[in-house]
Amino acid sequence: MAKVKTTFYCQNCGAQYAKWQGQCTSCKEWNTLVEEVVQKEETKGWKSGAVTGGVKRAPKPISIKDIASEEEFRMRTPNTEFNRVLGGGLVPGAVILLGGEPGIGKSTLLLQIALNLPFKVLYVSGEESERQIKMRADRLVATPNNCYILTETKTQNIFKQIQEVDPDVLVIDSIQTLHSDYIESSAGSISQIKECTSELIKFAKETHTPVLLIGHITKDGNIAGPKILEHMVDTVLQFEGDRNHVYRILRAHKNRFGSTNELGIYEMQGAGLREVSNPSEILISKNEEQLSGTAIAATVEGLRPILIEIQALVSTAVYGTPQRSGTGFNLKRLNMLLAVLEKRAGFRLGAKDVFLNITGGITVDDPAIDLAVVAAILSSNEDIAIEGRICFAAEVGLAGEIRPVTRVEQRVTEAEKLGFTTIVISSQSKLPELKTRIEIKKVSKIEEVVSFLF
Ligand code: TYD
Ligand code: MG
Repeated sequence: MAKVKTTFYCQNCGAQYAKWQGQCTSCKEWNTLVEEVVQKEETKGWKSGAVTGGVKRAPKPISIKDIASEEEFRMRTPNTEFNRVLGGGLVPGAVILLGGEPGIGKSTLLLQIALNLPFKVLYVSGEESERQIKMRADRLVATPNNCYILTETKTQNIFKQIQEVDPDVLVIDSIQTLHSDYIESSAGSISQIKECTSELIKFAKETHTPVLLIGHITKDGNIAGPKILEHMVDTVLQFEGDRNHVYRILRAHKNRFGSTNELGIYEMQGAGLREVSNPSEILISKNEEQLSGTAIAATVEGLRPILIEIQALVSTAVYGTPQRSGTGFNLKRLNMLLAVLEKRAGFRLGAKDVFLNITGGITVDDPAIDLAVVAAILSSNEDIAIEGRICFAAEVGLAGEIRPVTRVEQRVTEAEKLGFTTIVISSQSKLPELKTRIEIKKVSKIEEVVSFLF
């Protein structure tokens, strides 16, 4: 019997070592090295040449002038939000990794897409049984015609079935459950994940079949497995949202075939994920009664303008140290804005509890919502409601100055479309002459905002 070969892998970054050591010299993490058994063989899971009839071609360099530039062909999915995030649709041969917390809806999203695709799809699950998948499929609104389900975890067996079924699209749920015969360590270990992914990439590139992989994430939000996994695949998507809220956001963290600015929004319903094509309408409550402590911000997510509602509660602190909390908003930035209000506008907020919430359970890091945050805090502090048809789009600087933000034009247009009568922006914003019905209020200092609102 051949000698068993083992290697130490850093579980954090995937670096490989011959000997154990306390600290990974590559990522500087401690105690992350784990011994894994590796046994490489010549033949790999996906036999190259299986589709090309066994004829192997050694690639030769070609002058870039001679490469035909074709319009990239995209396989459009019936899911417009998914297409948008991918940059137009699935590119043949692309390997896409979808990460997200457990229970967020990764399997639901990909099964729903698989059921509705007008192509032949093979959905391989190592997590659920056929019956469980069928039960889930029955809940989803779909007219499945060409979707095959396989419950298997060994890559060699999966490739055998692929040759029988010959799918146009392959879905793997999840990469952490797969194992390859050529590596001895257990499923989910770094060397297995690396090996299975590279076998699947080889398959995708040779047959021009798009492969969608589901990946688990660790508790700190990274995709479990080596960082290398993210380098290997073409596209990394992240499915996020608060499990207790219904909205889910799909973002691209890396995309070789499109922009990473785009964003897809879904709503989890009893019958699967519904695409939300006009997010502003659902994120703003249609409350006729005017309440103090709420303000509307015109933000931009990806390339889409979205209007969101910000709620603040300012109350006298019960304990010695006042509490500050921000849901969906950076706490450091909240503290900074409170300090600016204290120093530049003379509001005594030092002894007050401040709670901030962005409704809908979404997280926003666009600085353009600063002014709405400030307005919501002041409105709660003064207990005076802000007139419901006003929205805000500006950043607040440390000197209390109101700073301009990007894409003002888009924000103004979206606010107008949703029936707002006034939008407050920075006086330095460069806005081309727009024929708008909405009143554009330009301000340069916090004090001006205060006197305009109250
Ligand atoms: P799931 O896709 O299993 O999550 P993941 O694969 O990311 O771990 O998501 C399951 C959750 O979604 C579960 O809590 C139930 C909920 N769900 C719905 O609300 N509606 C549905 O139609 C389906 C299929 C699931
Ligand atoms: Mg799942």
